[in-house]
Formats: sequence, structure tokens, C-alpha cells
Amino acid sequence: MKIGIIGSGNIGGTLGRHWATVGHEVLFSSRNPEELKSMAAKVNAQTGTVQEAVTFGDVILLAIPFGKIPALVQQVGRLDGKILIDATNPYPQRDGDIARQIIENKLQTATEYVASQFPGAHTIKAFNSIYYKVLEEMAFRSGDQRIAVQVCGDDFQAKQMVIQLIEAIGFAAQDIGNLASGVIFEPNAPLYNKNLTITEADALLLQLAA
Ligand SMILES: NC(=O)c1ccc[n+]([C@@H]2O[C@H](COP(=O)([O-])OP(=O)(O)OC[C@H]3O[C@@H](n4cnc5c(N)ncnc54)[C@H](OP(=O)(O)O)[C@@H]3O)[C@@H](O)[C@H]2O)c1
Repeated sequence: MKIGIIGSGNIGGTLGRHWATVGHEVLFSSRNPEELKSMAAKVNAQTGTVQEAVTFGDVILLAIPFGKIPALVQQVGRLDGKILIDATNPYPQRDGDIARQIIENKLQTATEYVASQFPGAHTIKAFNSIYYKVLEEMAFRSGDQRIAVQVCGDDFQAKQMVIQLIEAIGFAAQDIGNLASGVIFEPNAPLYNKNLTITEADALLLQLAA
């Protein structure tokens, strides 16, 4: 797959390197793309502007501070037909009023807000609930040893593609359901940042449903 990374920091940098390592075509973007060249070269990936990442990717990973999303929407416009993986989280201390509003608005989850900003994209929530060091150090496992990565979305086919991207780098996708269900792995929710194996995560999910 062709994957454009928006926000090539802790999460975007780590995921992009993993995906490039297993043979996907990756473009890391930045407001200063020159600074990413040596990281990208190590895994045979490209670098470019945010706009170039959007044009390049069939899949776009969104991994910037949540508070920067409105400016990004203004900058890139629509992402029609793209699979948009939302790895962001709203943190009021970092992201300000927009994060506060999203958290207070119980009618819309954070990723439903992101999806509403890119109405033509197939938005899937994933990788927001895993610490980047776990993503770095616990990748490429197999079977029951794999760490769970929660995923949800309203578009079945797009979600299957993202599940493949999770499993290709040695994590286990834990499909939580539609976008609205994603509230269970947002900050402070039961499945957020637990870094459980898939067996442990499935047991916790069952317990929560009981
Ligand atoms: N850290 C974690 O373990 C973790 C885990 C799960 C989810 N998340 C979420 O993932 C997102 C990114 O977190 P992170 O820790 O990876 O952050 P980070 O290391 O600070 O990287 C964020 C990147 O976003 C880019 N950026 C900042 N403002 C931007 C803008 N206006 N337009 C485009 N790009 C912009 C920056 O790229 P340039 O300066 O190069 O342009 C930066 O490299 C956050 O929403 C966070 O809550 C983080």
C-alpha cells in the first residue's frame, strides 16, 4: 500500500518505519521535510510536504496534536476516497479548547469529529491507544504474544485494510465495532493505553460487556 504519514513524530515515525520495513511504500511528511531525510533513508521511504503525503497515500495516517486538526483541514482540504487512520487524542492541556469541547460533547467521539472534518474519507480509528514505545519495542510478535491494537470504523472494507496494516507489523487487531464504539479506547477509558496481549484485551472486553 501507499501510505502518507501526517505527523512523523513519536507515533507517525514509528509506524511509518515499521510499515516501510515490511515493504509498504511510505512518505513521511513534515513542515520541514529535510529534517526527516536520514530517518526515511534508513527504511527506503520518501519524504515530503503534508500536501505531498496527501496526494501520495491511498492510506493516510493522522498523527499530529489534536489541536492542529482544524488548521490541517484548512490546509489540505478534502481526502475523498482515502483511508484515513486517526491516531490522535484530544488532550486539553496540550490541545486547548477544541479538546475540551470534544470531551464534553458526549454526542460525538473524537474520531467522529475527525471523520466529520474529512467527509469523503473512510476514517478508521487505530493506534491512538498504544504508547509509542510499546509500538516500537513490542512489534513483530506472533500468536498470543501479540499486543492488542484497538480499531474501529464505519466502513467495513477500510477497516479490513487497517486490520491488515496492524497485523502486518506483528500486533493483533482488536475490532471494537463502529466509530461510535471507539469511546472505549479514548483517553481515560478502560481500553486506553493498557498495552495488553490480545488474550488479555479480549478478556477485559468481555468483562466490560458483562
Ligand atoms: N506519543 C504517544 O505514545 C502517542 C500514542 C498514541 C497516540 N498519540 C497521539 O498521536 C498524535 C501525535 O503524537 P506524537 O507523540 O507522535 O507527537 P509528536 O512526536 O510531537 O509528533 C507530532 C508531529 O505532528 C507534526 N505537526 C505538528 N503540528 C502540525 C501541523 N500544524 N500540521 C502538520 N503537522 C504538524 C509535527 O511535525 P513537524 O514539526 O515535522 O511538521 C510532529 O512531528 C497526538 O494526537 C497524540 O495524542 C500519541
